[in-house]
Amino acid sequence: MRMVDLIQKKRDGNALSAEDIQFIVHNYTNGNIPDYQMSAFAMAVYFQGMEDDEIADLTLAMAGSGDSIDLTPIEGIKVDKHSTGGVGDKTSFIVTPLVAAAGVPVAKMSGRGLGHTGGTIDKLEAIEGFQTELTRDQFIDNVNKHKLSLVGQSGNLAPADKKLYALRDVTATVDSIPLIASSIMSKKIASGADAIVLDVKTGSGAFMKTLEASKALANEMVSIGNNVGRNTIAVVSDMNQPLGYEIGNANEIKEAVEVLNGRNIEDLRKLSLELAAHMTVLAEAYPDYKTAYQTLQKKLDNGEAYEAFKTFIASQGGDVASIDDLDQLPQTEYHVEVKAEQSGYVTGIDAESVGVAAMHLGAGRATKDDVIDHAVGITLKHKIGDYINNGDVIAVLHSNSNNPTSVIEQLKHAIAISKEEQQKPVLLYKVID
Ligand code: URA
Repeated sequence: MRMVDLIQKKRDGNALSAEDIQFIVHNYTNGNIPDYQMSAFAMAVYFQGMEDDEIADLTLAMAGSGDSIDLTPIEGIKVDKHSTGGVGDKTSFIVTPLVAAAGVPVAKMSGRGLGHTGGTIDKLEAIEGFQTELTRDQFIDNVNKHKLSLVGQSGNLAPADKKLYALRDVTATVDSIPLIASSIMSKKIASGADAIVLDVKTGSGAFMKTLEASKALANEMVSIGNNVGRNTIAVVSDMNQPLGYEIGNANEIKEAVEVLNGRNIEDLRKLSLELAAHMTVLAEAYPDYKTAYQTLQKKLDNGEAYEAFKTFIASQGGDVASIDDLDQLPQTEYHVEVKAEQSGYVTGIDAESVGVAAMHLGAGRATKDDVIDHAVGITLKHKIGDYINNGDVIAVLHSNSNNPTSVIEQLKHAIAISKEEQQKPVLLYKVID
């Protein structure tokens, strides 16, 4: 078999066999297929797409390219949650302790941020002492004892995807449904969970900008999961503006803890409850969605989820005092107010631009070797649909530079204000099961 023939086969719109795909993944992972051929292949997939069987074969080949995590020493149905990436998305810090408080084990591996989206692991490291690397035994023990552990992705989990994702990032082949679906699902399958809840984002800050494309991605991932015996559900949720008000590492931990403490940040609380309800139903903790949602609402309001979060933070060496007193989280030297230059309704907050602005402050990485500053970030003071007056503060930049002029300009451009009244965007579009 020759790679050039397989590239041609895909380029001409033909379906690849399981053997073809296994050949590509195996030989790309071990270095026999060079990046230039794999780039051509990714571009051929980008334009020609893949059939369901090909996507399933690609997913399984990538999942099998490295370690698979064996979660069988953990009792119960293990449910994982994955978001396709957004700005200000801190639901994991609310959902996972909430699900743990319902007695459902969560053994979760997460990634770091790159570009405009933040990473769960980076955010947790804003908490002094928190360990994101545990041995396998510590990870399993923590889940058995406390129902929750969250660690960085093991180095050899789906290495084929790791290599291919980095290549796609620089060859304009990220936003392809077969490639995203197989990339995400290969890691979820190798991570060992029995069931998976996916939060597929749609809108300006998401990979998939249209609802149609987001639904297609969600359908594809649900069908892959179910075909390989992992009960999978997807929720399609809005990313036309950041989730909640805080963007940045310490900022997002702070906002998640506030929700765990009863603050009603509407979109964040609602989406967290939605995802947690589906997870607990898949784990058979509750008989149906409605019972799950109502019971979890109580666990959020009576502090059980907050206690589960603190137990989890302490179990991985994190400083719980900074959770009880959020002022002890990393702080910046400067807090720069960004003011509206006209009155009117907020009609748009471009999530991707806000994410890029936060990255430029130091909250994220432009390249994977950049060092992040956990203290910096952005607090939005308004969301789409709010009316504001000229001169009102629309956002605060938490910065360690006293004059982040270019970031102020970026943020002003990201927030659109108009005289015309604007409805709040829909948060939850569809559940696919
Ligand atoms: N996240 C992934 O892990 N892979 C993709 O292709 C896109 C988002």
